[in-house]
Amino acid sequence: MRIAVMLSGRGTNLQALIESVHGFDAEIVAVVSDHEDAPGLRHARTANILTRSFELDQFERRAARDNAIADWLDENKVELVVLAGYMALLDDSFIARFRDRIINVHPSLLPAFPGTRAVDQAVDYGVKVFGVTVHLVDEGIDSGPILLQRSIELPGYSDPTEVHQILQTIEHELLPEGVRLMVRGAVSRDPANPQRLIIEP
Ligand code: GAR
Repeated sequence: MRIAVMLSGRGTNLQALIESVHGFDAEIVAVVSDHEDAPGLRHARTANILTRSFELDQFERRAARDNAIADWLDENKVELVVLAGYMALLDDSFIARFRDRIINVHPSLLPAFPGTRAVDQAVDYGVKVFGVTVHLVDEGIDSGPILLQRSIELPGYSDPTEVHQILQTIEHELLPEGVRLMVRGAVSRDPANPQRLIIEP
């Protein structure tokens, strides 16, 4: 399967995918960023993966930018889009073009703490159990059907940076696992409740 990864930041999740999925279960054929100086693009270039950045100020509106991204992904015959720390919202038209073919990793146990600064929100709230979610992307904010979740009890932690570091080690396993399920065609929506996913063992 031909995969694209979209990122905005350091790209540690991209690196995990390069090490555990790329060339094994699937090919990462394109990496997209909304910032040309996103450090994560370096991981792609080192692995000889095509990269391109789409800065918002080059377009009139976000919809036009996202349409250009979707066109580029189509040109590269991308079948699955993986959001790995892509911090911009995606236009509804983009989501419609890749319906049920976009997955995202999020550093909380959704539906708790959607959006940005999820770990800070969770620490500020005083939760004792943290976690990571991999989910399908729909038009809402981190509201799509859940593919995988893993929790971890961290009752004594109050530093968001420390908590995030621990959660990232989970992300680096869970996101590749989610990609493998999608590649295997093991994921479908429950006809009785489309918010629920059925995952073939
Ligand atoms: C990850 O922790 C990911 O869960 C988070 O951004 C980080 C990117 O890390 N995404 C979100 O918060 C999306 N709402 P990385 O650049 O090192 O892969």
